[in-house]
Amino acid sequence: MNLKGRSLLTLLDYKPEEIQYLINLAKRLKEEKIQGIQHRHLEGKNIVLLFQKDSTRTRCAFEVGSTDLGCQTTYLGPTGSQMGKKESVKDTARVLGKMYDGIEFRGYLQSDVQALADYSGVPVYNGLTDDFHPTQILADFLTIQENFGYLKDIKFTYYGDARNNMGNSLMIGCAKMGMHFKAVAPKALWPAKELVDICLEIAKTTGATLSFEEDPIKGAIDSDVIYTDVWVSMGEPKDVWMKRIKELHQYQVTKKIMDQASKNAIFMHCLPAFHSLDTEVGKSTALEFGKTYPCVANGELEVTDEVIESKQSVVFEEAGNRMHTIKAVILASLSNDF
Ligand code: CP
Ligand code: NVA
Repeated sequence: MNLKGRSLLTLLDYKPEEIQYLINLAKRLKEEKIQGIQHRHLEGKNIVLLFQKDSTRTRCAFEVGSTDLGCQTTYLGPTGSQMGKKESVKDTARVLGKMYDGIEFRGYLQSDVQALADYSGVPVYNGLTDDFHPTQILADFLTIQENFGYLKDIKFTYYGDARNNMGNSLMIGCAKMGMHFKAVAPKALWPAKELVDICLEIAKTTGATLSFEEDPIKGAIDSDVIYTDVWVSMGEPKDVWMKRIKELHQYQVTKKIMDQASKNAIFMHCLPAFHSLDTEVGKSTALEFGKTYPCVANGELEVTDEVIESKQSVVFEEAGNRMHTIKAVILASLSNDF
């Protein structure tokens, strides 16, 4: 396997065996880290982290992962660079490509991360756009592999806005790895037909299946994994909340939903999650909509506190795996030896 020089813009560009290779490399790097074995394979390299949107996990995963590899990082936050304001993405790409060995980008447009890859001449990593979040899926799949021992034939069920970056990327990932992807949401929030058709073509070669369900209870039956994400994504206008709560309140992941899933089912979420009154958004949403929709009155939106705090929940292990998988992506793309 040779992934040197490769960008990761969407998992559509990766073969199943390449995805599996990155997951297994992450597993190895995780074991080495636990055993205190250093792996500074990228001494002298530099990568830049361009963030147009906020982040906890992705930024920290890139920073710690790079440091462990001996690779330096520069963080440029939403207000920290000329990009987009005084300088085009294309020009920024050509400048950064002269100084850095790799570029991470989190932002809005997939065309921006594509332009960085097209013009920088170095590997570019998509740290989330409105359309895709591929590094998250690598962490999710490492977590599933750790829990079940395999990926193929896992019954994977996604609740919520299935047309967002997470819904899209999880569907692609499941299609690639021969898993059984099901989106449980009102029809209006199912993934775009164009992407479904692409994934159906992939599924023909991997044995994956895709299905779509409107009934929130029926949707969970026999699932190995129940996954959900926020109902309103970064960058969406605030007034979307009312519409989304109306559309999705019946799809809140509750114990009743978890009880329909298989005996050994796990609960996953890319995080951050709204499950209590301990966040500004949880509080204000509860205040504004709690009377009309009692299920959100405690600040529990896409998942209840009971579920996310339950034994079935693997969300924090999943978050930790962001670092190991991102480290694998950086290493494989920048080293001759991995
Ligand atoms: N899951 C995820 O991407 O989290 P951050 O927004 O904190 O990076
Ligand atoms: N769909 C979410 C994912 C966050 C990791 C968002 O884009 O805000």
